[in-house]
Amino acid sequence: MRNKFTVVGAGNVGATCAQRLAERGYADIVLVDIIEGMPQGKALDILQSGPVIGFDSNVVGTNGYEETAGSDIAIITSGVPRKPGMSRDDLVLTNMNIVKVVTEELVKHSPNCIIIVVANPLDAMAQLVLKVSGFPRNRVIGMSGILDTARFRTFLAQELNVSVEDVAAYVLGGHGDTMIPLTRMATVSGVPITEVLPKETVARIVERTIKGGGEIVALLKTGSAFYAPSAGAVQMVDAIVLDKKQILPCAAYLEGEYGINGVFVGVPVKLGRNGIEEIIEIKLTPEEEAALSKSVDAVRELIEIMKI
Ligand code: APR
Repeated sequence: MRNKFTVVGAGNVGATCAQRLAERGYADIVLVDIIEGMPQGKALDILQSGPVIGFDSNVVGTNGYEETAGSDIAIITSGVPRKPGMSRDDLVLTNMNIVKVVTEELVKHSPNCIIIVVANPLDAMAQLVLKVSGFPRNRVIGMSGILDTARFRTFLAQELNVSVEDVAAYVLGGHGDTMIPLTRMATVSGVPITEVLPKETVARIVERTIKGGGEIVALLKTGSAFYAPSAGAVQMVDAIVLDKKQILPCAAYLEGEYGINGVFVGVPVKLGRNGIEEIIEIKLTPEEEAALSKSVDAVRELIEIMKI
């Protein structure tokens, strides 16, 4: 039997996730949204690209959860995207109500699924999903670090005029203004970028990475990024379904790792068939540790607003 995935929210991020996943051909997809007809229409449209692209995944759209029953993986993208000038943090109360109801429905119909959270503010929404689902922490994972790292890698590759594939990097911390692009560990073909780029250039790229989401919001005017976020979520699905044991920066619920307890924050994790199979602890400098602690404080502030 094929895998079954549910994508909740058939907007920009959700529909693009559904398209990318359908094109992989290794799972059937259920696309859920509250807008009547919209997920059905988009699902049918994606399905009809199958004969051209060459995939035979089934894709259905629905406004309910019956069809989602027995999903292996669910991706939550339902929520309001950021508007210009709006911080991810402003989103918390609106998206909290949406994500809570969605999680309850998903869990009722797919009690064994792995949930990938994409809705913002990411770390707070992941914390909410863990709480509401009652799932073990290996089955609730936030998509943020892959996106932030992809932005960091893109800007570094542009600056160096090399392929993005030559640039390796990590961004840790919360998905927001306190994220930590680890310049010390960023490399181009194995060479530390700090050896090939001036300090000021690295600092400028770090700043642009941190503001990467806002840059796109300002350009789009009516929505936020979705091509790269959906690519990030799908990379996580690949790692899980193909049991790749791939180490990726994701938001994970920490229980003592990095000296942090009881909160979601972006760290490197090993993803495989069981979801998060290991939280990788890399040795941080005192400055990086302080930055991570500041990032955790920012996440905790949002969690306090939600009163969960
Ligand atoms: N159940 C299902 N779908 C819902 C619900 C709900 N309770 N509430 C809202 N939605 C749907 C909306 O109808 C909409 O189609 O979620 C979809 C969100 O899509 P977009 O507005 O296009 O937003 P998108 O760009 O996809 O971003 C979704 O991901 O990256 C984050 O910050 C972003 O939190 C936002 C989320």
